[in-house]
Amino acid sequence: MADPLPYYKVLRDRHPVYYLPEWDTYALSRFDDIWRVLEVGEGTFVASEGTLPPATTLAKHNDGPVPDPPWHPMPFHAVFDAPLYGEIRQAHGAPLRPRSVTKMEERIRTLANERLDVLLERGTFDLTQEYGGIVAATIVCELLGLPEELASEVLATVNAGSLAKPKSGVDTSTARPGYLEYLVPVVQRRRADRSHGPLPIVDGLIDYRLPDGSAFDDVEAATQLLGIFIGGTETVPKIVAHGLWELQNRPEQRAAVVADLEANVPLARDEMIRYCAPAQWFARTARKPFTLRDHTIQPGQRIITLIASANRDEREYPEPDEFVWDRANIRQLAFGRGQHFCIGFHLARLEISVLVSEWLKRVPEFAVDEKGAQRPPSSFQWGWNSVPVEV
Ligand code: HEM
Repeated sequence: MADPLPYYKVLRDRHPVYYLPEWDTYALSRFDDIWRVLEVGEGTFVASEGTLPPATTLAKHNDGPVPDPPWHPMPFHAVFDAPLYGEIRQAHGAPLRPRSVTKMEERIRTLANERLDVLLERGTFDLTQEYGGIVAATIVCELLGLPEELASEVLATVNAGSLAKPKSGVDTSTARPGYLEYLVPVVQRRRADRSHGPLPIVDGLIDYRLPDGSAFDDVEAATQLLGIFIGGTETVPKIVAHGLWELQNRPEQRAAVVADLEANVPLARDEMIRYCAPAQWFARTARKPFTLRDHTIQPGQRIITLIASANRDEREYPEPDEFVWDRANIRQLAFGRGQHFCIGFHLARLEISVLVSEWLKRVPEFAVDEKGAQRPPSSFQWGWNSVPVEV
């Protein structure tokens, strides 16, 4: 995980369906295989053990399909298959749909420029954390009804929770108590008083009823917010900082993008997402046998989809290790595919477009302190957590 790309190439070329006996898990590394596996429905692959199972979970081998957990206490809903998973996603996802997200554009632009006012005056700062990091965390706070002043604390908390220890990986559930300290009060405050304007993500979970008519308690509702709390905070800033750095290294590409920001930033953004997205893999557990190439994956066995390898698959993208701002990213797996397709897709793309555009408008040139930049390996992420720059 300190430098996974060369391993991915070996896997793609020689072992596209690679069995890891210790974890009873198959690692899939080719774009086409992952594209196909993530679209298979009918309960063949379910995130029964979570989409990011820790080593302790993978160390236990299953004899057959993993049954659904009881409805109470409700874990993060992604462990259930359709229809329950889809119902809960539907109940709280409205603010992340395209029309609602479009309305957030001016707010994101204002936040980006407020940050730039402070940072450009200072001259040296961390491009990941202090630019995109604060903007993304502020938007998450607003979506979830947390005070805006908590944005930098939320950002630091989420970053700390994703760092992995060697051997044990990262168990996001151990970071949960810290996250729930923010999220349980959000639910409690909203239950007590709804007079402060709309808060549809939280209200949707409070009002949701399971098929047996029962409701979520405070911790259960807060648990469903974890994905937005984490996903909304940590990915966008790393892509923006890394993507701007790649452009800065290629003055001719930077000039081409700046020549028409409105037309060109969306293309550059998609290439930044392909090239820089930090998440490396997500897991599913098989419920039904499934044959891929010469391997039959049995119920209870797992797959991990190495989407960061798919992003660099030469069978899909010519010269995949080159950053090419106007590459035709016709198919992408960076946001996943199928049932668990990223709920923040529209927001993430808008945030990246705005953050990149506003930066390019105001910053003609900058220097990266390459020795100070950090890309700490975690068991599922590899992204530039810290990019110190001088403008
Ligand atoms: C460019 C930035 C982002 C990238 C590359 C990204 C990528 C992904 C991917 C690959 C998945 C699928 C995981 C799987 O298949 O198991 C996912 C799921 C998810 N993302 Fe994102 N994401 C981004 C931004 C966001 C944002 C801004 C939010 C929230 C506002 C968000 C919230 C979520 C949630 C809640 C899920 C879980 C869906 C589920 O399993 O039910 N993400 N994301």
